[in-house]
Amino acid sequence: MWTTKTRSISTLLGQCSRCRYVSTASRPRIEARLPLHTQLRRISTPASSPYQILDQTYKRDTYSNTPPAILSKIDRRLLHHPSHPLSILRNIIESHFSTHTSLTPSSPIVSVWQNFDELGFPPDHPGRSLTDSYYLNKEYMLRTHTSAHEVETYRKGLDRWLISADVYRRDEIDASHYPVFHQMEGTQVWPSSDITEIKELNAKLQKELESCPLIIEDETTISSTNPYQPTHDPELAEEVTKHLKHSLNSLIYRLFGSQQMEGEPLRVRWIEAFFPFTSPSYEVEVWWNGEWLELLGCGVVQQKTLDQAGMSYLRSLSRPSSLPYSDKKQCQRLMPDQSHKAGWAFGLGLERIAMVLFNIPDIRLFWSNDKRFLNQFKSGEITKFQPYSKYPPCYKDMSFWVPPISSDTAGEKGKVFHENDYCEIVREVAGDLVENVTLVRFPLFVDSSLPLYPQYC
Ligand code: DAH
Repeated sequence: MWTTKTRSISTLLGQCSRCRYVSTASRPRIEARLPLHTQLRRISTPASSPYQILDQTYKRDTYSNTPPAILSKIDRRLLHHPSHPLSILRNIIESHFSTHTSLTPSSPIVSVWQNFDELGFPPDHPGRSLTDSYYLNKEYMLRTHTSAHEVETYRKGLDRWLISADVYRRDEIDASHYPVFHQMEGTQVWPSSDITEIKELNAKLQKELESCPLIIEDETTISSTNPYQPTHDPELAEEVTKHLKHSLNSLIYRLFGSQQMEGEPLRVRWIEAFFPFTSPSYEVEVWWNGEWLELLGCGVVQQKTLDQAGMSYLRSLSRPSSLPYSDKKQCQRLMPDQSHKAGWAFGLGLERIAMVLFNIPDIRLFWSNDKRFLNQFKSGEITKFQPYSKYPPCYKDMSFWVPPISSDTAGEKGKVFHENDYCEIVREVAGDLVENVTLVRFPLFVDSSLPLYPQYC
């Protein structure tokens, strides 16, 4: 049978933080402090032939560290198989945000600029390290998060969208880590003039949430370490933050509420965080199997990000650069352009949530081509994974003669066939490798004077 490890899924998940970009201070990495040429020598061996990926050619240089095994994952497109658990989860979230446009960028290759610089990652951020990310060359890499598509998507003029995609990070090997996994990015932005509409939406969402068996633990505050942005009208920033929180609480209730034990309210916890591209920023956790499980990162989109996409919030670019976050009057003096936008964004890991909802104990199972895995799931349904042997199926049909079963011979040692005798022989020969012995059939018409030949599988 499938050998499950003794650690629980949530313990495994609890140990793994996919939100690697939370804070530059939280993940000290030895390699990040080494001079770059030392890292390069240790990690990448430049090969002469360029990368050929999705009809594009990428020259190699000293940054190239993406091996063929990783590139081979690009065309698996797990999110496009309707009955794959990741795709089922993706569809459920998409149907929850039914007015959002759902996008799935086809190529995982982005520029280093898109993945990091455009989003405000500092030059020494550990995520940029060759030990952490897959580079094709100095300029191009495999996206490490779906946030890499934020600016280009805002640039298309879309106000509310979801992006689901495969993302790539160099990582350890265990049941909860895989160098390729899937994220979903979601966002909603409004013209600043829509504040009345946002307030109305918030009141409605809050009422809906109050009627759910849901405990929201939120002790986060707006402070100098997690401020509203200086260029935002605090009243608008407050409503956008509320809408972010209501929207995600409601998504989490949609995903986990029905999986709760009867009568037990779902517990969700909000924690202050730091991301270079949002402020204020948060992480959200759910209480699951006796521990807090980290689900997603989110926040109010840095105005710089929207500015780059031509959705700037302020008409005047000659504003003072550092207004105190609480100085509402000064912000108002900056005359926000009523047509320009502000909004929120989130990013979540699909595997982490799917492992819990579908009870999938090992992240590598998502990549299985085994029918015993794939045939278990149905589009639109969350069902619990049924463990199966870790060995590939290998069926052996066996038929053989057994002594006649008759009242004459019954009781005579060695003459009566019993299934356990056969199982004993199987055990002797094959040990624990045999998972199951099944009698397929006894022939229907037998001459009672002849021995029987049962057929086993
Ligand atoms: N991209 C982040 C990560 O992979 C997650 C994230 C955090 C996405 C905050 C967001 C956001 O859109 O607002 O860890």
